[in-house]
Amino acid sequence: MRSWICIKSQLHHFQFERMVSSTKGKVCVTGASGFLASWLIKRLLECGYHVIGTVRDPGNRKKVGHLWKLPGANERLQLVRADLLEEGSFDDAVMACEGVFHIASPVLGKSDSNCKEATLGPAINGTLNVLRSCKKSPFLKRVVLTSSSSAVRIRDETQQPELLWDETTWSSVSLCEKLQLWYALAKVFAEKAALDFAKENNIDLVTVLPSFVIGPSLSHELCTTASDILGLLQGDTDRFTSYGRMGYVHIDDVARSHILVYETPEARGRYLCSSVVLDNNELVGLLTKQFPVFPIPRRLSNPYGKQAYQLNTSKLQGLGLKFKGVQEMFNDCVESLKDQGHLLECPL
Ligand SMILES: NC(=O)c1ccc[n+]([C@@H]2O[C@H](COP(=O)([O-])OP(=O)(O)OC[C@H]3O[C@@H](n4cnc5c(N)ncnc54)[C@H](OP(=O)(O)O)[C@@H]3O)[C@@H](O)[C@H]2O)c1
Repeated sequence: MRSWICIKSQLHHFQFERMVSSTKGKVCVTGASGFLASWLIKRLLECGYHVIGTVRDPGNRKKVGHLWKLPGANERLQLVRADLLEEGSFDDAVMACEGVFHIASPVLGKSDSNCKEATLGPAINGTLNVLRSCKKSPFLKRVVLTSSSSAVRIRDETQQPELLWDETTWSSVSLCEKLQLWYALAKVFAEKAALDFAKENNIDLVTVLPSFVIGPSLSHELCTTASDILGLLQGDTDRFTSYGRMGYVHIDDVARSHILVYETPEARGRYLCSSVVLDNNELVGLLTKQFPVFPIPRRLSNPYGKQAYQLNTSKLQGLGLKFKGVQEMFNDCVESLKDQGHLLECPL
């Protein structure tokens, strides 16, 4: 009886796999091992897509092991090697794909001394490299590029008549340079270069601009932003202070937004993706209430002085996305940090 149930469920699984792979196409996700890309791959596999993920080293179990544990991965995930800095490196990965999610881009810690060169080159040239491969692909329908709210929010507020930023807004290049915000500068240049290239070459490109992404990490290796959050929960003030006023968004909302703009034929242009904007003092106020067991700093200074901007996300919400709230995103993040042994509860 038991084995019949098992065979039946295997048959059902096989039929389900056949059904899903025939209903959804093949898509490529660049930087597959990363924090956001991994969660997007999880969601794409759940939706029935066949995913080709690019990584710099498919044999590195530490970096890709978590991907192979995802439901559907054995049947519908392939990992191939590609590097943003190697011309033509993405040709094979995108060749058979209808959709490309270009997510790979350096996200380095503030302490990296060569941060400017290491960020700008791969972000801008890498994006154009991926798009040149997309141009050669005969099946391509749409490219979704992950930009960032950093390409919007770095502005001198004293010069602005109103402080509600939307998709028509771009960060100030001169202010990014003055403040040495190389990541923001790279995201501005890479997104602008991608939009120009797509227009010139008739590529259907949509960009998603997430604010600070919060949520569970599938990989045990924490990315830069997740380890900044871990530091904040453990009482570190240095790394987090520099963020100033910031938007926050749940990682699952970011992944769902990528799929939503990919699947919605009318989607066009840029989409800001952010649930809530908070001063860093407001954030630590909420977190100390939500997690009294952690030594979260009571106050953080803001190196940019008084900020008041808001992000207008009505364009994405108009496609039907409903954002999760700040408590849920941090709760899911903390649970994952505890499960992975990064965060220990120590009563104050
Ligand atoms: N985290 C956030 O709060 C946030 C907010 C807004 C936008 N974003 C954007 O979301 C994307 C993913 O960020 P993340 O937070 O998930 O960071 P992450 O975990 O560090 O992912 C970045 C990915 O880019 C890959 N990459 C870097 N340089 C590369 C190169 N030369 N060739 C090939 N791949 C390269 C990395 O590969 P390796 O694993 O081999 O290093 C990694 O998989 C980025 O475009 C970032 O700008 C992130």
